[in-house]
Amino acid sequence: MKMLWPYLKELFYFSRRTFIINILLMVILGLVEGVSVLMVIPLLSVAGIIPSMDVGTGVTAWINRSFQHFGLVVNLPVVLVTYLGVTYAQSWLQRYQAQINVEIQQTFSRFLTIRLFKAIAYAEWQVLMSKTKSEITHILVTELVQLIGATLGLLRLIATILITIIQVTLAFLVSPGLTGLVLVGGFILFVGLRTFTAESQKRGRAILEINSRLFSEVTEHLEGIKEVKSYGIELPQVNKFEEILTELNGNVIASQVIQNRTNMLYTMGAATFLSIVLVGAVEIFKNNPQDFIIIALISSRLWPKFSSIQTGIQGMNLMLPAFETAKQLEKECLAAQEHLPEDDLQKIELKSGVEFKDVSFCYASAKDSYAINKVNFLLAAGTTNAFVGVSGAGKSTLVDLLIGLLKPVEGSILVDNENLQDNLRPWRSSIGYVPQDSFLLNASIRDNLLWACPNATEEDMWEALQMAAAEDFVRRMTNGLETIVGDRGVRLSGGERQRIVLARALLRKPSVLILDEATSSLDMENERHIQQAIDGLRGKLTIVIVAHRLSTIQNADQIFVFEQGKKVEQGTYQLLMEDKNSRFSSLANSHKK
Ligand SMILES: Nc1ncnc2c1ncn2[C@@H]1O[C@H](COP(=O)(O)OP(=O)(O)O)[C@@H](O)[C@H]1O
Ligand SMILES: [Mg+2]
Repeated sequence: MKMLWPYLKELFYFSRRTFIINILLMVILGLVEGVSVLMVIPLLSVAGIIPSMDVGTGVTAWINRSFQHFGLVVNLPVVLVTYLGVTYAQSWLQRYQAQINVEIQQTFSRFLTIRLFKAIAYAEWQVLMSKTKSEITHILVTELVQLIGATLGLLRLIATILITIIQVTLAFLVSPGLTGLVLVGGFILFVGLRTFTAESQKRGRAILEINSRLFSEVTEHLEGIKEVKSYGIELPQVNKFEEILTELNGNVIASQVIQNRTNMLYTMGAATFLSIVLVGAVEIFKNNPQDFIIIALISSRLWPKFSSIQTGIQGMNLMLPAFETAKQLEKECLAAQEHLPEDDLQKIELKSGVEFKDVSFCYASAKDSYAINKVNFLLAAGTTNAFVGVSGAGKSTLVDLLIGLLKPVEGSILVDNENLQDNLRPWRSSIGYVPQDSFLLNASIRDNLLWACPNATEEDMWEALQMAAAEDFVRRMTNGLETIVGDRGVRLSGGERQRIVLARALLRKPSVLILDEATSSLDMENERHIQQAIDGLRGKLTIVIVAHRLSTIQNADQIFVFEQGKKVEQGTYQLLMEDKNSRFSSLANSHKK
């Protein structure tokens, strides 16, 4: 229940005016409903339709007198017109209120989702890295949608509570003693059934967690579907899926059982209690029979309200955990927002270079070991630099630090003698990045190029393609730039894919081009294409190449060798190769084998 209050608060602050109007309408509707119900019997008896009624006392007399006050004779037409009038007004208000409800739900859900999406978009890489894609997707597209239901549930709950209060008050005016009895009975049941509320809360969390697992199971299965088929492990996958789904079913059914049981016990309890009250009333209060009918009406109206309040609370318990996880994710992301002003899109033209000064870094998940340890180097503007080292040496971490995706734990990174983090937005605008597992949209080559540079002209695109040694093969394609590349670029060969990604990076006219093992998964032929492309770029911009195969970096102006997060050597290819004892030559030799 602890999330109910924050949720209500957010909802209220978001929709203030409509929220109040909504509540007011509910109050009015509750009043109309209560009055119309209370009025039916007396109205009918006043009109003489239920002849056994005593017209001279109680509510009936009061209604009779009110009508007479306006000079109206209470007969069937008057009763029917009153009834119709009340019903029309009620239906119209109900329609109006239902509409406001939908608006609040939809706009609130949109607001929460966009806010979370934004928080995620601007969060630091380190935080995002710690989340799985399926976890975030699930929260954004499934759980927050579920909150629409919670909003409706909450509004209904408030409405029901208010209407109940109004009805109780009205009933109290009619017959305080009997209403008191009905309330005591309702209260006992309410408290008695509270244990179910706790259980429904537990189920709600379980359902949420299983749903999330189910989602990631499907996502992972689809991501690895080629391997799954190649290994022939479809059956274990199917079984695992079935297992999770069975678990989910169990929990959903259990939570429904609770709700249904609550409803049943209420109905039974209501009937039992009503009988007792009626018997007691006859004996003790000696009321007239008309009040019996009224009390029967009151109970028949109030008891379902008690039970729907309880089911409402249980329903909220099922849905609010979604709000909690979304809130939690948002909180984490907001705590680690990057400062990226959208109006500061100017690029940095690198003049002197980028300097790493005693830079150390450790991942939050591995705090006791430095992934980067007191590293110093200068990437001079306009030069081509290479990072080499065995896998796990820290090259990609250095690249992420260079992009500003990660922040040094110690030391500083200076771009033209200014702190990188102080100019994060312009710096990112100046970077072209080609990772090993590059990303392409399932769209045309044109769309993929424009994705990173929406303002590029046709000419710019061809120029970038040409620089990336991709012009020829794109021109050969029947659809040219309009060729659809497929999901993550599956319709292109690995080499073609990387050259499109390189073209995309170059289209941004970056000051710094970073290739993190961009050619590692390519064959010699394709690697040579990209290598030639990069050779053609030499001197035009600052280049950082992380390479596996040392043949690709022969022409680099400066080679940095890393080992266990430390820079161990630095120099040109010739210089490092001359020293037969250098780490670099041993790396080179191990590659030749
Ligand atoms: N997300 C991460 N969380 C924790 N440790 C990481 C993470 N990414 C990399 N590391 C560790 O940091 C070190 C350097 O990794 P990385 O920079 O990827 O090396 P390289 O690119 O040279 O192969 C490795 O020991 C690796 O295990
Ligand atoms: Mg790497």
